[in-house]
Amino acid sequence: MKTEKVIVEKNQGQALITENKKDNHKKLYIESYGCQMNLNDSEIVASILSDQGFNTTSQLHEADLVLVNTCSIREKAEVTIRKRLQKYNAVKRINPTMKVGVLGCMAERLKEKFLEEEKIVDLVVGPDAYRDLPNLLQEIDAGRDAINVILSKDETYGDVSPVRLNSNGVSAFVSITRGCDNMCTFCVVPFTRGRERSRDPESILHEIQELADRNYKEITLLGQNVDSFLWFGGGLKKNYNKASAIAKATAVDFAQLLEMCAVRFPKMRLRFSTSNPQDMSLDVIHVMAKHKNICRHMHLPVQSGSTRILKAMNRLHTREEYIKLIDSIKKIIPECSFSQDMIIGFCSETEEDHQDTLSLMKYVKYDFGFMFTYSERPGTPAAKKIEDDVPEEIKKRRLNEVIALQREHSAYRTEEYLGKTMEVLIEGQSKKSKLHWKGRNSQNTMVVFPKEDYNVGDFVNVKIDDCTSATLIGTAVEYSDNN
Ligand code: SAH
Ligand code: F3S
Repeated sequence: MKTEKVIVEKNQGQALITENKKDNHKKLYIESYGCQMNLNDSEIVASILSDQGFNTTSQLHEADLVLVNTCSIREKAEVTIRKRLQKYNAVKRINPTMKVGVLGCMAERLKEKFLEEEKIVDLVVGPDAYRDLPNLLQEIDAGRDAINVILSKDETYGDVSPVRLNSNGVSAFVSITRGCDNMCTFCVVPFTRGRERSRDPESILHEIQELADRNYKEITLLGQNVDSFLWFGGGLKKNYNKASAIAKATAVDFAQLLEMCAVRFPKMRLRFSTSNPQDMSLDVIHVMAKHKNICRHMHLPVQSGSTRILKAMNRLHTREEYIKLIDSIKKIIPECSFSQDMIIGFCSETEEDHQDTLSLMKYVKYDFGFMFTYSERPGTPAAKKIEDDVPEEIKKRRLNEVIALQREHSAYRTEEYLGKTMEVLIEGQSKKSKLHWKGRNSQNTMVVFPKEDYNVGDFVNVKIDDCTSATLIGTAVEYSDNN
């Protein structure tokens, strides 16, 4: 068995390209940092700007407009973006008419400060204001700085058909909720993305239908907190109690939405992300069990294995309740895989709390995970009320222990697949070999195998012969019956 990195990289700002319209002559360079939601938002922005005459380009120096969709989740993400702005500065010296805009969470968090602190920036647009981009562009064309960071009660972009950027033509994201009401004490998202709103199920089904018509095979339903999806006619989730009796009687929750999608699109693979364990219901698990096309993978961020720390984080479950949830899922869907997010060294975390995190990991043996040290974010409840008192070197040491353990577990999980045959959806060519396809199994593990006569978008049964801690290596046996 070879070892390999087990931490999956999130979006690190590559230029996003799409099919271009013949009559569009202006050039948009757009890059996205952070979560999948940002990537999907960039697709929405590209769609709005396509109607304004913009085609995407991968060449920064030829762009008329540069947009960077930013992330505020950790300080490091913000530092990376500030550095990137310096690069744009250098390009602007060669291409002085180029305009630069910042979108997303940093735009919302820093607002006017961005225009003051970063001279290169002409345009600041928060996550709910992308529809205003055409007006804002007129402002900057007239030589004025432009800003719109108003968060909305209802904006879900339900009627915008996102153009698919850098798409493999096989898998796509579909946003179902925006914002978050949970107020985990470490998290900046409720401040940058506003209160929670759900999108009309009909518009979600319509978007998936469009993707199915274009031969897409896998959809990931996206939200900061998908399990709290609740459609009762629109508006903020917190107003549900005030909704009419009819609105309540006809409301659609996440389990129902998932089932609607699974039934309407039986050939489409369905995934969803992200789930806060406190909002996950048994109904969702039963719907998953009932429908083979809902993938056998649960991303269930826990953040810490210590009940005391979970409480300080305002995560509304204990360690024991989380374990119970995992046990229930395993009982109902034995082949389900699990992945985690962990925050290491949150305020007041002791060695004992850290051991609780390691022991929880040993219990679950996650397939993979996203692990980071705690980064205090200005304005969050933790920043206001709790001291960030774990020294940096202790955070780093604990993080290394957590990553090393995750690597062991990932290797343990991939080895479990040896000798088994499983359905893989072909997503494209393997990064390391032109002769191999890559795709994922239902459990979300990457599989590579020789191409033979198969094509991108085919569902293939692959027998697993070898593995690293992150990838399965196999041989295609036959088409699966899902084609
Ligand atoms: N809604 C999801 C998480 C969304 S944020 C949930 O309920 O868990 C994505 C991940 O970023 C979080 O799971 C957390 O692990 C990490 N994160 C958020 N704020 C952070 C911070 N201040 N420092 C370090 N990591 C953080
Ligand atoms: Fe953040 Fe907690 Fe919501 S991690 S996105 S406040 S569920």
